[in-house]
Amino acid sequence: MSERVYSGCTAVTMAGDAPYGLIEDAAIVTTAGRIVWVGRNRDLPGWCAHIPNIGLGGALVTPALIDCHTHLVFGGDRSKEFAMRLSGATYEEIARAGGGIRSTVGATRTASDDELLAGALRRVDDLLADGVAVIEVKSGYGLTIEDEMRMLQVARRIEQHRPVRIRTTWLAAHALPAEYADRADDYVADVAIEGLKRAHQEGLVDAVDGFCEGIGFTPHQMRRVFEAASELGLPVKLHAEQLSDLKGAVLAAEFGALSADHLEYLAPEDAHHLARSGTVAVLLPGAYFALRETKLPPVEALREHGVRMAVATDANPGSSPLSSLRLAMGMACTQFRLTPEEALAGATRNAAAALGLEKDYGTIELGKRTELAVWDAPGPDFLSYWLGGDLLRGRIIHGEFHER
Ligand code: NIG
Ligand code: FE
Repeated sequence: MSERVYSGCTAVTMAGDAPYGLIEDAAIVTTAGRIVWVGRNRDLPGWCAHIPNIGLGGALVTPALIDCHTHLVFGGDRSKEFAMRLSGATYEEIARAGGGIRSTVGATRTASDDELLAGALRRVDDLLADGVAVIEVKSGYGLTIEDEMRMLQVARRIEQHRPVRIRTTWLAAHALPAEYADRADDYVADVAIEGLKRAHQEGLVDAVDGFCEGIGFTPHQMRRVFEAASELGLPVKLHAEQLSDLKGAVLAAEFGALSADHLEYLAPEDAHHLARSGTVAVLLPGAYFALRETKLPPVEALREHGVRMAVATDANPGSSPLSSLRLAMGMACTQFRLTPEEALAGATRNAAAALGLEKDYGTIELGKRTELAVWDAPGPDFLSYWLGGDLLRGRIIHGEFHER
């Protein structure tokens, strides 16, 4: 059951030695949602003859895209702060004056579950239109145990409403809520760590994250959260070096983190730590753009050390009001000087690694899940080159083709 041959396409496999792992005039064979054969159409084995064959009319087929860093469950919006920043206030000033993340915390706490879900689904739909099949969603706008858990429960409900895989990340160490002013250590113990244990017990946590920054938490506080995560056997990731160099990436690497994210202020000489621990560098050009940052992440050093780079939207109401992963890829090229091939790897293969999902997702290879994006595009560079537009022809979800 559910066997298909998809033929008449250019397969952008993101595996093997050819650029993009490209196979012209390709065929992809799927059984029960897994890829069982991929290669040149003319080499299709005889045992495929009885399988229904669907011609894709010359389309480009890539692995489905993966958005490995989002905050897309939240209440309200911050368009007023956008205007304030444009007239000169900085992100940090607004945060210290009680705006920023804390203003979204207020709006998130008062929103009902259904309101949070409805808002999230709008952003999910934007991502689906970009060929996304896996989305990571962080907590971090609740900042009480109950509200942090509620955010992750809402995130998990997305899977009941849309054909998408959701990974949930515990990010209680995102900002200090007003009720814990000047008591950051207590907050870390009472909410970030105690809450993590409870959320983990409820099966809500796939990974643990934190905001290691002057306006967030210190490396010492993050170490405590990471130790608690390690005791529970949970992988970690970190918002590191977004606004300053606190050596968060070095800490993340010490804990074998899945990813270190942002990294504009990463010292080039620290890139080797990420290489050694196999930690993915998640680049977030939407936040760089929206905050009008001028310090570039040390892409050349990451490349030299062979650190895998991912690209994500960071979709959130403050620093990155962005729900197009293809636009993030385009920005990663133009702003950060990634090649279009690196950008696509960043939204497929390396994004899968940033979520610990590389066994199932991120390339078109034998044994991987048949989650693919089918594009009307002349070649894979086009996906990063063209900003906006409606390039997606359809998606292959669990082996079945769905037209857009
Ligand atoms: O990834 N840096 C911290 N967290 C988010 C910002 C969240 C917000 O501004 O609401 C980020 O940029
Ligand atoms: Fe973020």
